[in-house]
Amino acid sequence: MLNLVDRLSNPGHAEFVNRTQAIRPDGPGTAIRSVGPADLAALSGFFARLSVESRYLRFFAPVTPAHGLLHLLSGGPANVDAIVAVADGVIVGHAMAADRPGDPCGTQMTDVGVVVADAWQRRGVGAALMRALVLRAQARGVTSLAMDVLPANRRVLAMIMGHWPDVAVGYSPDSLDIRIPLPRYQPRRQQSPAREQVRPLVTLAG
Ligand SMILES: CC(C)(COP(=O)(O)OP(=O)(O)OC[C@H]1O[C@@H](n2cnc3c(N)ncnc32)[C@H](O)[C@@H]1OP(=O)(O)O)[C@@H](O)C(=O)NCCC(=O)NCCS
Repeated sequence: MLNLVDRLSNPGHAEFVNRTQAIRPDGPGTAIRSVGPADLAALSGFFARLSVESRYLRFFAPVTPAHGLLHLLSGGPANVDAIVAVADGVIVGHAMAADRPGDPCGTQMTDVGVVVADAWQRRGVGAALMRALVLRAQARGVTSLAMDVLPANRRVLAMIMGHWPDVAVGYSPDSLDIRIPLPRYQPRRQQSPAREQVRPLVTLAG
């Protein structure tokens, strides 16, 4: 496992949502950041380069996203938060959260999807993306994550079960309907830079 570290993941930072997250896979040049309109071509290339298996596990079909789906994946709609992991200028991972309308009981749910470039899998990038996505969701008031997962997707199930033991699993004919309760977002007092904690990226929030 590479020594990925994340220094800007403290949700107590008021400007957390808009800041670039530095990650260091044994060196500089890697970051987690929001997707922007200028990323469309790079995002298209990222998904096109994924193996058929990775695309199948992410989208439940070996699709290569075209214009409409790319708009969604790039965070086009107002309810979608999209982030990427970038290494030396190349996108190596993508995650997004699509917020559902809040329900009267106060539950605010978001639908989450994540995928990492094949050559970068098992190096902490997926966990880093998930943690960043979760922190951003908590800062928006999200209280629950939803994730559709193929029953045979042992990798993501291991990631989920390993980090969120309280997960609820619903069964449908084709997929597992994962629900993950999140603790309420509690802003912390701003820490001075000298006291910022350096935490391993592989630890997910929640
Ligand atoms: C699922 C996925 C996003 C995980 O990303 P990743 O960067 O490979 O994962 P990480 O290296 O951050 O590992 C996080 C955890 O996942 C689990 N995991 C990852 N790869 C695994 C594998 N091959 N076998 C078993 N567990 C695995 C482990 O629990 C790991 O925790 P650890 O670091 O304590 O071992 C990545 O495998 C992927 O893109 N898969 C295809 C798309 C997909 O399945 N998306 C999920 C549905 S939306």
